[in-house]
Amino acid sequence: MIKKILLLLLVLLILGQLIRIDKSVPDTDAQLDLFAMHDAPADIKAMVKGACYDCHSYETVYPWQTEIAPVSWWIKGHIKNGRLNTNFSEWGSYDKNKRKYKGEECSEVLEDLRMPPKSYRFMHTAAQLSEDDRKKLADWFRKL
Ligand code: HEC
Repeated sequence: MIKKILLLLLVLLILGQLIRIDKSVPDTDAQLDLFAMHDAPADIKAMVKGACYDCHSYETVYPWQTEIAPVSWWIKGHIKNGRLNTNFSEWGSYDKNKRKYKGEECSEVLEDLRMPPKSYRFMHTAAQLSEDDRKKLADWFRKL
């Protein structure tokens, strides 16, 4: 019985690999990007791109884990919800109030260690921000 269940799970795991995640992105105006809208020192830009852009922009870099179901589906969920919540590639389409509010939210999640998510920090060294980095980023976002 256990053997049959394990075999079934194995078959499901193999079949699951056929369901690939959608990596396509819509056409967007490059001028709407966060850094096209706001000047930033190179280190700030590198940190935001390295720690936030995978889930909060259309410039996602997909690591090898995204090739393996069901992990890939779980990661895709993060990217989908991250973009829905805040999309730095569409920053310019937010009105002035929303940008201000989102900037404040970004400062808060950085200070509270809520973003980037723990599971992501674990896998990405660029997302392992020091306390100093977090403060720098929070100050920059607060000025938007
Ligand atoms: C691994 C993907 C991932 C990364 C990397 C990531 N986020 Fe998020 N972020 C999410 C998801 C998913 C949500 C939406 C959570 C929800 O819908 O409840 C979110 C929500 C947010 C929110 C809204 C918080 C709220 O209370 O509603 C802000 C602001 C935010 N992220 C900022 C950032 C910033 C700034 C970075 C980089 C320092 C970052 N995120 C990195 C996935 C990510």
